[in-house]
Amino acid sequence: MTPYPDADCAWPDIGFGIGAEADRGKGYATEAVGLLVDYLFSTFPVERVGAATDAANEPSRRLLEKLGFRREGVLRRASFRDGAWRDLVLYGLPRPAWAARRRGGISAER
Ligand SMILES: CC(C)(COP(=O)(O)OP(=O)(O)OC[C@H]1O[C@@H](n2cnc3c(N)ncnc32)[C@H](O)[C@@H]1OP(=O)(O)O)[C@@H](O)C(=O)NCCC(=O)NCCS
Repeated sequence: MTPYPDADCAWPDIGFGIGAEADRGKGYATEAVGLLVDYLFSTFPVERVGAATDAANEPSRRLLEKLGFRREGVLRRASFRDGAWRDLVLYGLPRPAWAARRRGGISAER
């Protein structure tokens, strides 16, 4: 990642997955992605962290929303998987919203 605000790509887009199905639903991904997000904001001068997920992926959407990510848009029929075209939901977490959560407050950021 390029840690300069005026670079072409000034923010990271993250992806995640728990390999073994038996290990899912235990909170591991929420904890790990939360730590990754904290690391990115604490280490680099990024102004936002982004993520995209299949609109039908409820665990992924729940995880992102629990960490403070907000929906920013939908890319309709943007991904072809398992024999079907699927919508992708774009999510973002701006730095002020992340910082407000860290302070335990509520952010006015949308
Ligand atoms: C998405 C994924 C990473 C979530 O990992 P995880 O460790 O199971 O997630 P967590 O246990 O932290 O749970 C996250 C939320 O999803 C919910 N959830 C978990 N499994 C679920 C299921 N089968 N159906 C509905 N919700 C589910 C949890 O209940 C939790 O929400 P809650 O706190 O409101 O109850 C995991 O399911 C996975 O690896 N899936 C395959 C790869 C993938 O889809 N990656 C995302 C690409 S963007």
